[in-house]
Amino acid sequence: MKYGHFDDNRREYVITNPRTPWPWINYLGNEDFFSLVSNTGGGYSFYKDAKFRRITRYRYNNVPMDSGGKYFYINDGDTVWSPGWKPCKTELDSYECRHGMNYTTIKGVKNGVEAEVLYFVPLKTWAEVQKLTLKNTTNEVKKLKIFSFVEWCLWNAAADMENFQRNFSTGEVEIEDSVIYHKTEYKERRNHYAYYSVNEPIRGFDTDRETFFGLYNGFDEPQTVLEGAPRNSVAHGWSPVASHYIEVELQPGESKELVYVLGYVENADDEKWESKNIINKSKAKATIERFNTAEKVDIALAELRAYWDKLLNVFTLKSGEDKLDRMVNIWNQYQCMITFCFSRSASFFESGIGRGMGFRDSNQDLVGFVHQIPERARERIIDIASTQFSDGGCYHQYQPLTKKGNNEIGQGFNDDPMWLIFGTTSYVKESGDFSILDEPVPFDNKAGSEVSLFNHLKVSFDHVINNLGPHGLPLSGRADWNDCLNLNCFSSDPNESFQTTENKTEGSKAESLMIAGLFVVCGRDYVELCNQVGNLAETDRAQHHIDAMVEVVKKYGWDGDWFIRAYDYYGRKVGSVENEESKIFIESNGWCTMAGIGQEEGMVAKALDSVKERLDSDHGIVLNNPPFTRYYIEYGEISTYPPGYKENAGVFCHNNPWIMIGETVQGRGDRAWEYFRKICPSYLEEISDLHKTEPYVYAQMIAGKDAFLPGEAKNSWLTGTAAWNYYAITQYILGIRPTYNGLIVNPCIPPEWKGFCVTRQFRGATYEIEVKNPNGGMKGVASLTIDGLLIEGDIIPLMPKGKIYKVEVVML
Ligand code: BGC
Ligand code: NOJ
Repeated sequence: MKYGHFDDNRREYVITNPRTPWPWINYLGNEDFFSLVSNTGGGYSFYKDAKFRRITRYRYNNVPMDSGGKYFYINDGDTVWSPGWKPCKTELDSYECRHGMNYTTIKGVKNGVEAEVLYFVPLKTWAEVQKLTLKNTTNEVKKLKIFSFVEWCLWNAAADMENFQRNFSTGEVEIEDSVIYHKTEYKERRNHYAYYSVNEPIRGFDTDRETFFGLYNGFDEPQTVLEGAPRNSVAHGWSPVASHYIEVELQPGESKELVYVLGYVENADDEKWESKNIINKSKAKATIERFNTAEKVDIALAELRAYWDKLLNVFTLKSGEDKLDRMVNIWNQYQCMITFCFSRSASFFESGIGRGMGFRDSNQDLVGFVHQIPERARERIIDIASTQFSDGGCYHQYQPLTKKGNNEIGQGFNDDPMWLIFGTTSYVKESGDFSILDEPVPFDNKAGSEVSLFNHLKVSFDHVINNLGPHGLPLSGRADWNDCLNLNCFSSDPNESFQTTENKTEGSKAESLMIAGLFVVCGRDYVELCNQVGNLAETDRAQHHIDAMVEVVKKYGWDGDWFIRAYDYYGRKVGSVENEESKIFIESNGWCTMAGIGQEEGMVAKALDSVKERLDSDHGIVLNNPPFTRYYIEYGEISTYPPGYKENAGVFCHNNPWIMIGETVQGRGDRAWEYFRKICPSYLEEISDLHKTEPYVYAQMIAGKDAFLPGEAKNSWLTGTAAWNYYAITQYILGIRPTYNGLIVNPCIPPEWKGFCVTRQFRGATYEIEVKNPNGGMKGVASLTIDGLLIEGDIIPLMPKGKIYKVEVVML
């Protein structure tokens, strides 16, 4: 069953039934001020860091689901309702939510009153703007009582949830004109406050939560709203909220627009106060002024739309498949931008207090957005590299507010260094900006420790070769890409975190075939880079190590029909026919086939066929098979999940593209495409009841074939799945791949495709590429012409900027 539909012209997903199988959300803001908003108006805002600067409160995992948000209550005579259905849940006469590119509109109609709320964060603004449009479609005069509502969070989202003996006494607000200011802790160590305004004189307000709701009432029945009268409460401690009360009289056919601004301000120490205990409001007022009319708001929205037009024009596809085009052109790119901004911090599955920016995650996310905003990718690379250690090791995560490595989350994930090479080479290939390699970048953010970024890549490369195990394969460390395959952890204490607890790495023989394949792929990128910058000695040295690794993998990593996954602490095989459970894993087979290891000997084809046979299912490729059915202390967290979930035989959508790309290495476009379609959300819209999460974005995991309910997705939005699927479809299936000195066009498509068209902006020129597949082939370029001129090979060379070129590619 469907709960809505795509509106591709407007780049929106339109939800027409508020009872979606799970809240279907959107993200607002893409620089400093962010909000999450669900299809019924649930969600929250924060400034830069969802943990340390939480502006409004949200209740995760609550009853009912999705509790807390930016709500509007309308009291219309006998009826009290909300435009987004929730929280009142009064049946609406009609409902529609449109999630667009960083904006959302939610419209409800009840008893002849239309109420539409537009939510967005204007560009370069530390505020969320909400425009409420009310329209009277009846023949009678309507007298409406409008209550807004947000609940303040006391800034640190973790402390906000636990330290009530303090929290209930700290809350402070100020109310001036139509603006409610939240200034808890501003007096002492904070230099920031928040505010919520409306561009109309208010008839009343509330700022104390219990006064607004009544102590024993839920979000659905605030006593003030039911009574139709605010109580003008001023919060002193307890839980400060902000609610404006406005009376609106609408003649038949008349409409009215109100603009609310929910903003955040920072003041320097000497500018904090207007007078004793009265905060300096000038910055808040300036922002409010920028959006004090509906016209100004409409202009700001138009600017946001234009910004997105520009971003999405860099790569556009016409394949003749709507479901594919809308993912490639709109939603997959959008999700990549969101993962760039949020990493894995805040979604409806990530509470915003657990994780900062991941070292490996952020590098991988980069391949999904680097073509849109290369300058921000550049900055991101420098930030990430600055948290690296001088031996090439890395903090696994860093906090966005401080940009410092987060020691609580730990270190020693031995795949991490490789991803810096992956991210950086992707950036240089896209932008041609070799100057980034000369940037001085510190180790562990310590001033004075700076070396060039190129040197960081070198220590990354060397980190693998300096940490080889008994077979000459990379030591796994705490874990490789699979955070849950904890080969050195041996945890028996349920209160320990698998990610951070003390590991037995001393004397460990745990080696990873996933890192081995990753090393060969990224190592070759590094070699090519060294070659480009003319560092031939390093080219040779690195190539030598890669060749050696390829041989070691063939010798010790091949199990007969597929690549094994690892060697454990004791040196025993993991992911081998010899094992009782989990005889085969996806990751090593993905990376080793992407690397083409043993292709001549038939290993690539064989490994991929084994994946097809043992791991594929109706809902995608599962991570391992057969799943673990008991706890293996020597494998760690992976064996804690019930069969079919998460890293234990779930369809982990992040790694399915590795197999897709592996299939393109083998030239099997039909298989690559089949795998792509199986997990692509727009193809799953019809089974939304089962799939549960949004049909416009990828989820991290779909329950695998051994789960209780195969096909049910979880953890939508913030996942490396977004970037990896975008990378696989655009660069390997469509085959349009930036390289140092041009744009490769070498598709690998299903034989029934007659061709496709892509417009690609690259290094200042625009290429209108038409691919033709006259003979029903899957891979191979017969000819490539630019403006009619035949070019040798499959690379469009760099052409003079500012022009449009017609490229025709005919497949074999
Ligand atoms: C999850 C992983 C995640 C890790 C680190 C585990 O519980 O299963 O997917 O990467 O935690 O947060
Ligand atoms: C999610 C994490 O964010 C990512 O870094 C990891 O690779 C996967 N889980 C697999 O465990």
